[in-house]
Amino acid sequence: MIRMEKIERRYVSDDVETTALHAIDLSIAAGEFVAIMGPSGCGKSTLLNTLGTVDRPTGGKYLFGDRDLAAMDEKELAKFRGSTLGFVFQSFNLIDELTIEENIALGLAYRHDAGAKEGGRRGRVAAAMDKVGIAHRARHFPHQLSGGQQQRAAIARAIVGDPKLILADEPTGNLDTANGEQVMNILAGLNDEGATIVMVTHSPSHADMAKRRIDMLDGRIVASAMRAL
Ligand SMILES: Nc1ncnc2c1ncn2[C@@H]1O[C@H](COP(=O)(O)OP(=O)(O)OP(=O)(O)O)[C@@H](O)[C@H]1O
Ligand SMILES: [Mg+2]
Repeated sequence: MIRMEKIERRYVSDDVETTALHAIDLSIAAGEFVAIMGPSGCGKSTLLNTLGTVDRPTGGKYLFGDRDLAAMDEKELAKFRGSTLGFVFQSFNLIDELTIEENIALGLAYRHDAGAKEGGRRGRVAAAMDKVGIAHRARHFPHQLSGGQQQRAAIARAIVGDPKLILADEPTGNLDTANGEQVMNILAGLNDEGATIVMVTHSPSHADMAKRRIDMLDGRIVASAMRAL
């Protein structure tokens, strides 16, 4: 599904030059659940953001299916993201002024076909809420929810549009152990149902729930291993 070849990301500011990604080669097949680990500053978020096209590489090739993402302009990329990707962040990133169900419906913003099938937009939002166990908080606002509930709502927003790829940057980083586990179980369940997931984590036990682990160091992939089943 994804092929990155010699992806490079260099930041230049004044006299300082930082290379966050050095010649990254990475292929990800549909249905994979990949965990990315490594010390702070090694480039995990940069790689995830590059996969998510919110950060553009300064070199290399990124193919998604048969599409060359380097050839797309900002407008095409925004459409690609909205219809193909689902994002989950460490800090949930829900909009405070919108209810939980309104937040989740934002995940359908680029899915103009969404109203036509599977019970329409409302039906899809309801199904996504059920999946993460947040339906009883549909009319609440984010600040009225616990961190774990907010993250589950954020996952519902990420999956409501039925994305081809879910990208999660430390999705359990702001959660206690019990809520972290619940979020991991939801992600593992989505993967069992066929979702493709790439997740950055600092937790070895959460990485163990993925099927493949990638270790990064200083902007490079230094190991990639499938979990022994
Ligand atoms: N906008 C920027 N300008 C300059 N350098 C940057 C910028 N963003 C990131 N970097 C640098 O790129 C490198 C990789 O950063 P990145 O955020 O990808 O690390 P990370 O592995 O996600 O770390 P953490 O575990 O702390 O989240 C770091 O050295 C960082 O300082
Ligand atoms: Mg990071």
